[in-house]
Amino acid sequence: MTHMHVAGSIHADATSPAPLWLTRPDDVNALTEQLWSKNASRNAEGELEIAGRTAASIVAEAGSPVYVIDEDDFRTRARQWRDAFEGWDVYYAGKSFLCTTVARWIAEEGLGLDVCTGGELAVALRGGVNPARIGLHGNNKSADELRAALHAGVGRIIVDSSNEITRLEQLCAESGTVAEVMIRVTTGVEAHTHEYIATAHEDQKFGFSINGGAALVAMVRSHHSPHLVLKGIHSHIGSQIFDTNGFEVAARRTLKLLAQFREATGVTLPELDLGGGFGISYIKEDTPATPAELADGLRSIVEHECRGFGLAVPRISIEPGRAICGPSGTAIYTVGTVKTVELGGGQSRRYVAVDGGMSDNIRPALYAAEYSAALANRAGDGGPVLSRVVGKHCEGGDILVRDEFLPDDIGPGDLIAVPAAGAYSRSMASNYNHVPRPPVVAVSNGRLSTLLRRETLDDLLALDPGA
Ligand code: LLP
Repeated sequence: MTHMHVAGSIHADATSPAPLWLTRPDDVNALTEQLWSKNASRNAEGELEIAGRTAASIVAEAGSPVYVIDEDDFRTRARQWRDAFEGWDVYYAGKSFLCTTVARWIAEEGLGLDVCTGGELAVALRGGVNPARIGLHGNNKSADELRAALHAGVGRIIVDSSNEITRLEQLCAESGTVAEVMIRVTTGVEAHTHEYIATAHEDQKFGFSINGGAALVAMVRSHHSPHLVLKGIHSHIGSQIFDTNGFEVAARRTLKLLAQFREATGVTLPELDLGGGFGISYIKEDTPATPAELADGLRSIVEHECRGFGLAVPRISIEPGRAICGPSGTAIYTVGTVKTVELGGGQSRRYVAVDGGMSDNIRPALYAAEYSAALANRAGDGGPVLSRVVGKHCEGGDILVRDEFLPDDIGPGDLIAVPAAGAYSRSMASNYNHVPRPPVVAVSNGRLSTLLRRETLDDLLALDPGA
């Protein structure tokens, strides 16, 4: 879903202040378990605690706003994916959130790492990830990025265009290296949450079209190139996917392509990557399948399709990002102002403004993404009041949580926590309005450590050489 709104303030809808899925809670202080990281709970005093640290103590040490990663939750999820897909390769999608410590956690938990720029590659290498377990994506990789990947010896470069094949061949020839590649293909499947569409044409910038024949041509060309070792093909179908329907069609189309390649060349390629996009709970009504359920579903789909095409089951890989880091992250903000706006017809909406906003989480403004929130420094008194959590930016669409019931007595100085904020929040953060980006801290057994420090005004001014 996208906004039809072009720019400026997004105004309240006076006829329906709350969406249908949001029901008034019996207890406004209760935490909905599926939304929060594994070690988050309210303590006896009513404060939100994450892995043994209260929200207030985290803010006292790291400042506000702050992103908090529950390390044990992150590592547990990484292991769940690894174990559920045993015998397959699981690559963590670094675009969802990456820093050197997270790269190290991923390597320690036995996962590979998917990067899509030279910047992400540099972080992965600095984090000590074995280059053989890194995959480099990108639809427009520069010569420098490809050179860096060849120099490091990354295990797979996922090739996205014929220009890139030419560029890579030249770089390999210059450096006397051979690149291991996969071909990114478009299957015509697009999936979001429970819905997917499978079309005949692929109108997007990524990959080589299966349907139009470009994919097979690129595969045959790479296979015959003296500079490239073609390992297999790669498909990614979308985001926030809750079930296996879209993957079933994508698997059928990619495996059929592997069968066609075998017919054309006599060679069976050993690998197939089905990409990422596995969904998480941002709000109560999001009910994603577990890694084990997805693994069972994907395995039987792949085995069934391979039987149909008379193919040996290739080595399969997947690339979950959000499903590992999303639920383990919580954003904590401080309330600055509270304002109630009359909507007419006896309806009103309470705007709770915090010290962050669209610069630290662009997803609500960009994708109309829904989030949840809770009072974090104490349990609230009074009943639930429909609220909208907004930021401090000079824009009406600067919304962090569009609709949530928060306690009646919330006020300046209170802390608000937004769960499921670990993916695509810090990684998509900006300095809009010259707001420095918040730090990312990890908490584990009551211990807090800095993953990324807070940006300062001096950091921002350092970029400005002066008049
Ligand atoms: N693999 C490939 C090739 C991808 O393009 C992506 C995401 C992933 C894996 C990881 O997807 P995940 O499992 O994290 O959903 N900024 C958007 C999401 C963009 C995803 C782009 N590609 C958001 O905030 O929802």
